Amino acid sequence: MKGVILAGGSGTRMKPLTSITNKHLLPIYDRPMVTYAIEAMVNSGISEIMVVTGGTHAGEFLRLLGNGEPWGIGRLTYAYQEKPGGIAEALGLAERFVDREKVAVMLADNIFERSIAGIVSNFEAQSAGARIVLSKVDDASHLKSLGVAVFDGEKVTGIIEKPEEPPSPFAVTGVYFYDSSVFEVISHLVPSGRGELEITDVNNHYIRQGSMGYDILDGYWGDAGESIDAYYQVNDFVRTHGANKG
Ligand code: TTP
Repeated sequence: MKGVILAGGSGTRMKPLTSITNKHLLPIYDRPMVTYAIEAMVNSGISEIMVVTGGTHAGEFLRLLGNGEPWGIGRLTYAYQEKPGGIAEALGLAERFVDREKVAVMLADNIFERSIAGIVSNFEAQSAGARIVLSKVDDASHLKSLGVAVFDGEKVTGIIEKPEEPPSPFAVTGVYFYDSSVFEVISHLVPSGRGELEITDVNNHYIRQGSMGYDILDGYWGDAGESIDAYYQVNDFVRTHGANKG
């Protein structure tokens, strides 16, 4: 399985910090944010990774990650997203790199307490389609700013972005798995109202098709790019408890 780490975007909610650097280079405890997504993938046995970035600080990723060896990456490649056209657009840049294999995708501002190795194995065992990772969020007002799963019994029947009335307490985290049909799906997307190719549209496609699997996360999940307060909350968590623990 290949790995794609998405580290582009605008980082508007983290301004003015993101006026002087890329959000994913900001520190989480003792190292740059993007290295946690790399560690999560490497610890799960994914050794071929593409980092997609953009904006004016892309060169710093090379300075930090180089050819990947110090971070345990077997083969590291990069792609440059010309403008922040959405998560699905950023993933689309990895088509040739993924080359008909399965792919694990991680948003570089998402931090997980526990290893995702078991989830990677679950997708290895899944014959086709896609897989999402859900996290139970108890704060209903927080859910209103996230993508939330709709259930019929045990089955996920849809994902609603930023629901007025959250249909369940299960938020969609920033780690996704696809077979190589995802690039065909992306090629048919139309930009949303905010002008982006939306990963939720990709995920709802697989749900409609009946080929979406899911896992429910064990342990803490944080989106460090959500707000400056979320950023400090994730920092405090990682400093106290660590991340990507086996
Ligand atoms: P978001 O947090 O949705 O977007 P953003 O990083 O641009 O931040 P803001 O909404 O505050 O302006 O994106 C989640 C992750 O997806 C982000 O950490 C990086 C990645 N991403 C890309 O790689 N390319 C993109 O075009 C977008 C929108 C996001």
